[in-house]
Amino acid sequence: MLSLTDHTALVTGAGQGVGRQIALQLAQHGAAVVVNDFYADRAETVAKEIADAGGSAKAVTFDVADYAAVAAGMEAAERFGTVDILVNNAGNAGPRVDPLAPAPPFWETGPADWSPWLATNLHGVLNTTRAAVPGMIERGWGRVINLMSDAGRVGEPNLVVYGAAKAGVGGFTRGLAKALGRHGVTANCVALASVRTEATAALLDDPAAAKKVLSNYVIRRLGEPEDVANLVLFLASGASSWITGQTYPVNGGYSFAV
Ligand SMILES: NC(=O)c1ccc[n+]([C@@H]2O[C@H](COP(=O)([O-])OP(=O)(O)OC[C@H]3O[C@@H](n4cnc5c(N)ncnc54)[C@H](O)[C@@H]3O)[C@@H](O)[C@H]2O)c1
Repeated sequence: MLSLTDHTALVTGAGQGVGRQIALQLAQHGAAVVVNDFYADRAETVAKEIADAGGSAKAVTFDVADYAAVAAGMEAAERFGTVDILVNNAGNAGPRVDPLAPAPPFWETGPADWSPWLATNLHGVLNTTRAAVPGMIERGWGRVINLMSDAGRVGEPNLVVYGAAKAGVGGFTRGLAKALGRHGVTANCVALASVRTEATAALLDDPAAAKKVLSNYVIRRLGEPEDVANLVLFLASGASSWITGQTYPVNGGYSFAV
């Protein structure tokens, strides 16, 4: 049921962290994988890792926040394979990834501070989905999987604009799911709490900070990229065909979905 043979997946921001692990696991299950990242060297390293393990992958570099670049990147991706699985993983918690560190309150910030969060986390998802979905509709099958955050579900005081962007992705996904259902295309979100990646290393490698984060989790360990990739794999597969418009927390019990 989890075989992805004959499918092509585009994973954005797959040059490291959660996206890299998603790309590896989708490839292990037979998908041809387009490895996107803003940084060409990261994307190429992961594509090579997949190829070295016997999988099929191509690195395609673009900034998801730049619609023209996304459109060109999608053309390059489609020359490799018809993209029928889109994983919108590229994200940016901004300069203040540490949810425990003091941050200026929202009311002391302005539009110039907000735009980096909105550009990648919200506009980036719109851009890639706009580019990928027509092909899915034409072929009558597709999967859109969007990486969300508990900052967008339950709120984090130091990540309010990032949270707004991620919550926007949730609303977008639900509307999209309703629009796409009759075309055989599903759209779902996976919402993370603290997962150990390059982005969170500075915070989570500090024992005192990690202990404080852990005290919020029913399951007393940090998340690993595999925890997320396992669910993404399921949502990408035929096994999830009657599931759409949902947001699934992968968060060690930090908060619950009802
Ligand atoms: N790690 C966590 O604790 C955590 C928690 C909640 C949500 N998330 C979300 O999960 C996803 C993955 O997080 P991560 O920790 O692996 O991040 P990360 O920063 O380790 O990796 C993200 C990758 O995306 C790339 N990227 C960033 N902006 C891009 C853009 N505009 N275009 C193309 N590529 C871009 C980066 O170059 C990087 O390689 C993100 O959407 C993030 O917001 C992560």
